[in-house]
Amino acid sequence: MSDTGGNPKTDYSPGLEGVLAGESALCQVDEGASGLRYRGYAIGDLAEQASFEEVAYLLLLGRLPTRKELDDFSAQLRAQWVLPGPVEAFIGVVPPDAHPMDILRTGVSLLGMTDPDAADGSHEANVRKSIRLLAQIPVLIASAYRLGHAKRQVQPSADLNFSENLLYMLTDRQGDKTARAMARVLDVSLILYAEHEFNASTFAARVAASTLTDLHAAITAAIGTLKGPLHGGANEAVAAMLLEIKSRDRAERWVREALASKRRVMGFGHRVLKQGDPRSAIIQRQAEILSRTCGDTRWYEIATILDRTMQQEKGLYPNLDFYTAVAYLLMGIPRDLYTPAFVCSRIAGWGAHVIEQQDHNRLIRPRALYTGPPPQTYVPLAQRT
Ligand code: CMC
Repeated sequence: MSDTGGNPKTDYSPGLEGVLAGESALCQVDEGASGLRYRGYAIGDLAEQASFEEVAYLLLLGRLPTRKELDDFSAQLRAQWVLPGPVEAFIGVVPPDAHPMDILRTGVSLLGMTDPDAADGSHEANVRKSIRLLAQIPVLIASAYRLGHAKRQVQPSADLNFSENLLYMLTDRQGDKTARAMARVLDVSLILYAEHEFNASTFAARVAASTLTDLHAAITAAIGTLKGPLHGGANEAVAAMLLEIKSRDRAERWVREALASKRRVMGFGHRVLKQGDPRSAIIQRQAEILSRTCGDTRWYEIATILDRTMQQEKGLYPNLDFYTAVAYLLMGIPRDLYTPAFVCSRIAGWGAHVIEQQDHNRLIRPRALYTGPPPQTYVPLAQRT
């Protein structure tokens, strides 16, 4: 401990910037040529060759599945699509203007109370709970959204994969060539969103998990944390910005004015990746291809102008949320479901982190640098003037 005012004798880093706050075997975040890896596998290889289900298996079960293991995993997901009665009832009474992230936060908390493994905090039960949430979250999001917008309810289909089902439930699209192209891009975005080391929401989940609370409590904390516009909420904010700019002629001026008035341009910058986000180049290429497939390059063109101007003016690069918003706009995903779609993927990373934390637990309890007044003498209430 310190010799000055009770402050601990450690280096202080606001926002924990650059601080190693724990160990993890899940994900390597590297700005260099090797980029990002999940359990040793390069994100470029996974985005190009794997499916999101494979990646979720890799994160939660520790290695890539065989064909049989993947089929069993998909069957396990399909078997858990149904929402428990209390969650269905909750969806029926949410305020009409509730944000889907808030519905999700409360819905996941409620799923924790109805989970068959609620009282079991073992490694195996945590894996089961994570797989269950992976299946339930898309259904919860879609059911609540469809009910709130007087749209007919749709059930996920056993003939569709994870991303095809998600696209179908969020947009009614399925089956044709364009829908298949959209689902593939959605799948790539889910692979890229699945895991990113000690980002704010994952860290929130690990802090909660380190008290040995239950997995659903930790995931509820993570969902609340992801909602913020400096984190997962950025993808919705990017789409709002593109819609506001509307046409490519206005893009450069818009961004220069935003910077002149010291506004943050959403979808740019990253706490760790100062030389660029390796995920961004992958999703940018996908957004460009999808724009051409859909015959609508407007959002992509506006985005590339913003991208170029931000690099010139601020030396800031797009993060994953930026071109993902272009792709989601093309897919017709309702804007306030972008961050919930992020949750559909990140639940794999969060679940894996909660399991890892509790397998090798040490309570996360850092110190604060005290900046308050010096010691004061207490004056009884009656004597205070
Ligand atoms: N637009 C304009 N200026 C920015 C931006 C931005 N998006 N990001 C950083 N800056 C500026 C900032 O104003 C500061 O400038 P100055 O030194 O002149 O005051 C400088 O860059 C450093 O910023 P910082 O806030 O110290 O950097 P940080 O590491 O704390 O911030 C960040 C990281 C992600 C919070 C920030 O870049 C940001 O607010 N970006 C916009 C929101 C966003 O896209 N979030 C998604 C993050 S990545 C994916 C995810 O987590 O979901």
